[in-house]
Amino acid sequence: MKVTTKPRLAGKTCLVTGAARGIGAGIARAFAREGATVLVTDIEVEGGEAVAREIGGRFRRLDVAAEDDWAALAEAQPEIDVVVNNAGITGFEGDAPPPHDPEHATLEAWRAVHAVNLDGTFLGCRYAIGAMRAKGAGSIVNISSRSGLVGIPAASAYAASKAAVRNHTKSVALYCAGQGLDIRCNSIHPAAVMTPMWEPMLGTGPDRASREAALVADTPMKRFGRVEEVAALAVMLASDEVAYMTGAELTIDGGLLAGSAAAPG
Ligand SMILES: NC(=O)c1ccc[n+]([C@@H]2O[C@H](COP(=O)([O-])OP(=O)(O)OC[C@H]3O[C@@H](n4cnc5c(N)ncnc54)[C@H](O)[C@@H]3O)[C@@H](O)[C@H]2O)c1
Repeated sequence: MKVTTKPRLAGKTCLVTGAARGIGAGIARAFAREGATVLVTDIEVEGGEAVAREIGGRFRRLDVAAEDDWAALAEAQPEIDVVVNNAGITGFEGDAPPPHDPEHATLEAWRAVHAVNLDGTFLGCRYAIGAMRAKGAGSIVNISSRSGLVGIPAASAYAASKAAVRNHTKSVALYCAGQGLDIRCNSIHPAAVMTPMWEPMLGTGPDRASREAALVADTPMKRFGRVEEVAALAVMLASDEVAYMTGAELTIDGGLLAGSAAAPG
């Protein structure tokens, strides 16, 4: 007997932000494999168009921090089934990143990180609720971080923004449920997934290998995560399989948050 399984996202139109590379591109690919119509968005036009071409999706330039971009999207795409708020920055991009510790971070650097990670997610959720209202159903997936669950002194703006993404996810989930809408909102909390985001932190010099090794040594599973592994969670949250799950936070971190370095031996 031939067993055929229906693609898990068949018939769904899904928007992914920051999908030109890294985790966002992985999610876009996984969604397309599961039968979704994918709207790939990013500020990186070339990379975004390439991902869209590869998966048979559409590309649209969308700066998540720009309210006007979301307003234009709402006109062009008034209905959507799934929104993944994935676009995010550490603040360490560029040649001479400023310090991000609580004593020396500038307000400008702090705000720049929050503009993308937090304002971008707020605007993405607001768009999603409006664009899901007609059907009264949908799934919003917010990519937070394990850094949203613990303090990261050297990346305090990033950590605070991701903690706020975690909390806003729960407000959105409760708001939608309270409105009688079947719109779910959940957060994913990855750690140490090998993507271009790590490049400025790992560097290219002779210390790169030892920096990588130190990160891996601190991870119980002793390896970096893969974008496909994060994408698999996004597929699950986007699908109707977990229709009772909202306001939840899913960690995918090789076991990092399961324990404490100070545990007795
Ligand atoms: N890689 C990890 O280890 C890790 C761990 C925890 C959380 N995350 C989160 O996962 C998400 C994806 O990270 P990644 O590792 O794939 O990063 P990445 O840097 O490889 O990709 C991020 C993408 O976002 C896009 N982007 C940046 N600013 C944007 C803006 N204003 N509007 C639209 N797009 C914008 C970039 O152009 C890029 O394509 C981020 O939110 C990140 O914080 C990553």
